[in-house]
Amino acid sequence: MVCGFLVLVLALLGTQTTRVSAALATNGRPYEEGNIVVPSPAMLRRCPERCGNLTVAYPFGIGSGCFRDPDFNLTCVVDGSTGTSRLFLRDGITEVINGGFDVGWSRYISAAYADDDAVVSGVDVYNMSSWSPPGRSFVGFSGRINVTGCGFDVFMLYNDSNTPFKACSITCPGSEITETAAMENCNGTWCCTVPFYSFNGFQFSFVRLRGQDSRVNRTGPLWNKVSVTTDYASLQWNVADQANCADAKGDAATYACLSNNSSCVDNLMTHRGYSCYCNGGFLGNPYVPQGCLRDRGYNPIQQVANCTRQCGDIEIPFPFGIEEGCYARKAFHLNCTNATTSTLQMEDDEHQVTHINLDEGLIDIKYIAYYQQDFLRIYVDEEPDLYMGYGETTSAQWAVANLTCQEAQVDMPRYACVSTNSECLVVNSTQNLLYGYRCKCSTGFQGNPYVREGCQDIDECNKTIGICEEVCNNIVGSYHCSKCPDKMEYDTTTRKCTSIKRQNIYLGIIIGLTGGFGVILLILSGLFMVHRWKRYIQRQLRRRYFRKNQGLLLEQLISSDENASDKTRIFSVEELEKATNNFDQTRIVGRGGHGMVYKGILSDQRVVAIKKSKVIEEGEINQFINEVAILLPNKPPKHRPALWMLSRNRGTSVSVRFYPKWIIVWYSSF
Ligand SMILES: *[C@@H]1O[C@H](CO)[C@@H](O)[C@H](O)[C@H]1NC(C)=O
Ligand SMILES: *[C@@H]1O[C@H](CO)[C@@H](O)[C@H](O)[C@H]1NC(C)=O
Ligand SMILES: *[C@@H]1O[C@H](CO)[C@@H](O)[C@H](O)[C@H]1NC(C)=O
Ligand SMILES: *[C@@H]1O[C@H](CO)[C@@H](O)[C@H](O)[C@H]1NC(C)=O
Ligand SMILES: *[C@@H]1O[C@H](CO)[C@@H](O)[C@H](O)[C@H]1NC(C)=O
Ligand SMILES: *[C@@H]1O[C@H](CO)[C@@H](O)[C@H](O)[C@H]1NC(C)=O
Ligand SMILES: *[C@@H]1O[C@H](CO)[C@@H](O)[C@H](O)[C@H]1NC(C)=O
Ligand SMILES: *[C@@H]1O[C@H](CO)[C@@H](O)[C@H](O)[C@H]1NC(C)=O
Ligand SMILES: *[C@@H]1O[C@H](CO)[C@@H](O)[C@H](O)[C@H]1NC(C)=O
Ligand SMILES: *[C@@H]1O[C@H](CO)[C@@H](O)[C@H](O)[C@H]1NC(C)=O
Ligand SMILES: *[C@@H]1O[C@H](CO)[C@@H](O)[C@H](O)[C@H]1NC(C)=O
Ligand SMILES: *[C@@H]1O[C@H](CO)[C@@H](O)[C@H](O)[C@H]1NC(C)=O
Repeated sequence: MVCGFLVLVLALLGTQTTRVSAALATNGRPYEEGNIVVPSPAMLRRCPERCGNLTVAYPFGIGSGCFRDPDFNLTCVVDGSTGTSRLFLRDGITEVINGGFDVGWSRYISAAYADDDAVVSGVDVYNMSSWSPPGRSFVGFSGRINVTGCGFDVFMLYNDSNTPFKACSITCPGSEITETAAMENCNGTWCCTVPFYSFNGFQFSFVRLRGQDSRVNRTGPLWNKVSVTTDYASLQWNVADQANCADAKGDAATYACLSNNSSCVDNLMTHRGYSCYCNGGFLGNPYVPQGCLRDRGYNPIQQVANCTRQCGDIEIPFPFGIEEGCYARKAFHLNCTNATTSTLQMEDDEHQVTHINLDEGLIDIKYIAYYQQDFLRIYVDEEPDLYMGYGETTSAQWAVANLTCQEAQVDMPRYACVSTNSECLVVNSTQNLLYGYRCKCSTGFQGNPYVREGCQDIDECNKTIGICEEVCNNIVGSYHCSKCPDKMEYDTTTRKCTSIKRQNIYLGIIIGLTGGFGVILLILSGLFMVHRWKRYIQRQLRRRYFRKNQGLLLEQLISSDENASDKTRIFSVEELEKATNNFDQTRIVGRGGHGMVYKGILSDQRVVAIKKSKVIEEGEINQFINEVAILLPNKPPKHRPALWMLSRNRGTSVSVRFYPKWIIVWYSSF
């Protein structure tokens, strides 16, 4: 995040560069060689590497003989009462914060600066002690400053300018709040915020607002003083005893890029001074001999026994881990921020992990920060890029170290593939953005190659059934197939060799059972045939009755009348049975001398009344036929049945009277 911010600030500064560099070039004389300390590795080993929890590295140093020139002279101040340590640059007011110096990685220092001045009755203008770069090795200071006070206009003057400008104003309403509370919401009331950037320093002045006078009886911390505090700030440094790399290389005695595999880069911003970097594939401190090394960040030994290996439903196998001592390198340090939601954050706080796959060397990553990102970039201090993927949600390839397998195997104490039966695998992305190695279990083994005894034998015989034609024998790392011995046969269900004799018994049983089933089948099909025969006889009977009951005549009548054909239908008895639920007792709506009237519901949901005769009388049938014959050619009167429907029941004659709401079915069965 700090890096992203700096890039933006530096882009803004671009336009000012030429003016400032011209100013600097005039007094850009190199330091005397006598001032420069180029220490031996033995000397450096005696120098403190830390101040509290901040790291210190050459060319910076604490104590005589530990820093390159006085610009890099640091002071570690230990607060006797709290025991906390603070690290200051040579000016004693610019504090180094956030980790300290990562000299091989960046030319920026996270810094902090604060100052205040007491407000005195009768004084309206306050010039705050100005800030200036603590030496010519410091070439840019940018960030944001919060100013607190009461009733002032805040003016700012850059040291390389003559014109102060109004940066902001601070007003105070009646009530009083603490300085900390004021800073929390720095919006112009009690506190205001000033962004700044400077090559040569600046100074603040406070001019009292009209009518906002402390002589008016007011007391309280915000009325009594004015103060400036950096909200965040970063300071850029480089080696300034030579103007550029070409000059520096000319003086071998003072050339700062001492490590092999390091290179020199000119300061393009102020065109004064230079920086050293480790070459691609090397990490470390380019300012000391043998400072640039190949990746040594992987530690294959899990330091702690009881590590959390789960975050919600995400498994976290070693080399990844949550707690200190549970992961193999900083880039594999994860933070389970919420186990209920399975939220697993990466070290950079900008990516989340949703799944880790050791076998394929893949990790599912979700980008959660709000900057645009096309391809995966996971910045972890002092770590090489070990992840490679595209998009905001990606299944990224990962490597355990930016080393070849050969390099890794030479450095056994840091070699990741610690399990027996594991192998080293080259990880090479096509774009060469990821270059390194990972581990896999050898063929025939599965598990975690990154832990001791992590790769376990695969029982191929159990895993892949049918891998052998007959007997399967699992052996460590493999399996082999064999045949059953003589007079034995392979049984696929028990997956064992069984004697042929026993199989014959089974065969007998099977034949017996099959025979039994055959007999049952024969009986059943006989019954079926009888049933079919009965139904055939019935159908013949029905057909005869249909003819006898003038069914054919009805059919003729209907088909001869074209109006009738779309309104008149002859139902089958099955349809009527369905409509009346098999002439169910509950469906009876009326009883007559000759039969019953049922309520029926046709398949199209129409409700009909169906009359079912008990006996068939010659006269009734004729009467019914006549009725049909009369009605059909005429339009039905309102109070009369609208339509006749006739049933073709193959032996049963049925009449259906279709009223506006009802259909009356006249049904005569045999
Ligand atoms: C380094 O800084 C300390 C404290 O400010 C000072 O006492 C000392 O003389 C400095 N050393 C050099 C070589 O400038
Ligand atoms: C470093 O120490 C300071 C107090 O001395 C503490 O506030 C801070 O959190 C520590 N930082 C780390 C990264 O441990
Ligand atoms: C404050 O600084 C300004 C400009 O730098 C100067 O003109 C003024 O006299 C100074 N005031 C005091 C009280 O030092
Ligand atoms: C400014 O911040 C103060 C608290 O410091 C708050 O009381 C006030 O409402 C804020 N004003 C605006 C306009 O946000
Ligand atoms: C400075 O002000 C901002 C609000 O504008 C606030 O978020 C921040 O915490 C303040 N910084 C300090 C050091 O108090
Ligand atoms: C200021 O207020 C205090 C009490 O609030 C009072 O004692 C004092 O006399 C006042 N001073 C002036 C100059 O009004
Ligand atoms: C990894 O190593 C190769 C050379 O072995 C180098 O070209 C590449 O830049 C390195 N990548 C990183 C991210 O350090
Ligand atoms: C692991 O064990 C140590 C002591 O053996 C204990 O203090 C620690 O809390 C344990 N950690 C976890 C995550 O269980
Ligand atoms: C994990 O994340 C939480 C919340 O973001 C944070 O408070 C905590 O310090 C982090 N732990 C580590 C070890 O980074
Ligand atoms: C975790 O997420 C759940 C569901 O969103 C939420 O209720 C809970 O407060 C979260 N816990 C923490 C520690 O943030
Ligand atoms: C892996 O990288 C090396 C060196 O960069 C290259 O020679 C080789 O062809 C790459 N292999 C694959 C499979 O990309
Ligand atoms: C086969 O594997 C399963 C689990 O995968 C296990 O429960 C079973 O005992 C194994 N059988 C044999 C014969 O190894």
